[in-house]
Amino acid sequence: MATESIRTFDAIVLGSGPGGYVCAIRLAQYGLKTACIDKGPLGGVCLNVGCIPSKALIHASKVYKKAKDGAAMGVIAGDLRVDMATMQTWKTGITQKLSSGIGGLFKGNGVTHIVGVGKLAGPGRIVVTGADGKTETVGYGKLVLATGSSPIEIPGFAFDGKQIIDSTGALALSELPKAMAVIGGGVIGLELTDVYARLGVQVTVIEAAERILSMFDADVARPVYQKQIKLGVKHLQGAKALAATKLPNGRVRVDVEVAGKPDAVEVDVVLVAVGRRPNTANLGLATVGLVADKRGVIAVDNQLKTTAANIWAVGDITPGPMLAHKASKDGEVAAESVAGKKTALDVVAMPNVVYTDPEIATVGPTLAELQATGRKLKIGKFGFGALGRAMTANATEGFVRIISDEKTDLVLAVQIVGAEASELIASAGLALEMAATTEDIALTVHAHPTMAEAMMEAAHGAMGHPLHALKA
Ligand code: NAI
Repeated sequence: MATESIRTFDAIVLGSGPGGYVCAIRLAQYGLKTACIDKGPLGGVCLNVGCIPSKALIHASKVYKKAKDGAAMGVIAGDLRVDMATMQTWKTGITQKLSSGIGGLFKGNGVTHIVGVGKLAGPGRIVVTGADGKTETVGYGKLVLATGSSPIEIPGFAFDGKQIIDSTGALALSELPKAMAVIGGGVIGLELTDVYARLGVQVTVIEAAERILSMFDADVARPVYQKQIKLGVKHLQGAKALAATKLPNGRVRVDVEVAGKPDAVEVDVVLVAVGRRPNTANLGLATVGLVADKRGVIAVDNQLKTTAANIWAVGDITPGPMLAHKASKDGEVAAESVAGKKTALDVVAMPNVVYTDPEIATVGPTLAELQATGRKLKIGKFGFGALGRAMTANATEGFVRIISDEKTDLVLAVQIVGAEASELIASAGLALEMAATTEDIALTVHAHPTMAEAMMEAAHGAMGHPLHALKA
């Protein structure tokens, strides 16, 4: 009787996003014969059609806007214009370089990249289908699911890849539309609103909730809203996007209901950014006895183990925020667990960053959430408007707020809205992980002049003795 001969690995990781590729590298470093299955390119959504390309376009559009606005500082631009094709080439150069970097790390660490789409085919088996339709069955001892998430499609707005697009489409526009509707005033919608509004596109944001960025405190979201209004963005809040109709003039009409009243906007392109759904529907989970919940999420324990033997799951398909750095942390812990090491996910501070202008960055609960607990709080808030470095950078919007426990002074949360918030939040994360008090932060010498001084100033404020601000 012929015995089946298939490639077999100690561990297979399904998906090469920031959860999967980090996990695969670690597994190989722990001495396991490891493969990572991905149809490619390596790096998943984050690297290829998410975090990295969006930051490239955010930066490029800021360069354009700053050059345009430079006259007050004595910088006068001549024939300033946007060449979208070149901007896209520059962006793609970055993603390609990073993706091939992961390939290099795989090679250097001994991870086998199996190119194709993987589907579970019972315990210990995965069927991989290549781009040419050919299939290969591979075997595993342990499996880590890291298949990520995809944009949600809503009724009336079927994606066509041209005029009704998701974030992937919006990151690949090779020409600037005149007008754009963005459905969803969340993280993706507003980062891309900023990009295209800065490049001169007339953007209308259609947000179903009463306000944009409702996952943040209202005063944290407000500077972003105000700056977008100043840029010429139209915001429809409490607005239901009903349907998109393609018009004979080549444009698209978006019918909306705002506060019960019908309204409509005519645009060239509609970006739908109303959230993402875990990629678990076509994975063959049932073949290993796994069930995702109705949102597509797979339950895991604090070592990222699923309820199926020898199967772990990380990143967007598991409970918690859909963030690249959360996925990578999951990936590291899962690899330790797969390798039989004593480990557990024990994160105190998960930073949350939005790359709008100004940027938003937070760790810990919102102020509203903390106040709802009834806990007695100390709050220190310092506005960038009073900071020398912020003035010299022409970036005085926003503030740092530190919230600590009134009795113990332990820092519970930090909210930053302002330029460089994405960088400033690192020290706040460290403060929470190290169980720092506001006194620790206030006593730490912060270099002058820096944006980071706002952290120290907010800490002084929380302690009741602000230096460069008057007592609240
Ligand atoms: P989101 O959850 O951030 O925002 C979706 C928004 O759409 C919400 O404000 C919601 O009220 C609104 N909405 C939902 N249905 C709607 C409808 N039918 N009409 C109008 N508005 C509607 O989702 P988003 O922006 O798609 O991002 C998905 C996830 O990707 C985020 O939750 C985040 O975890 C991740 N992400 C993180 C980034 C970062 O860390 N900088 C950047 C991009 C994405």
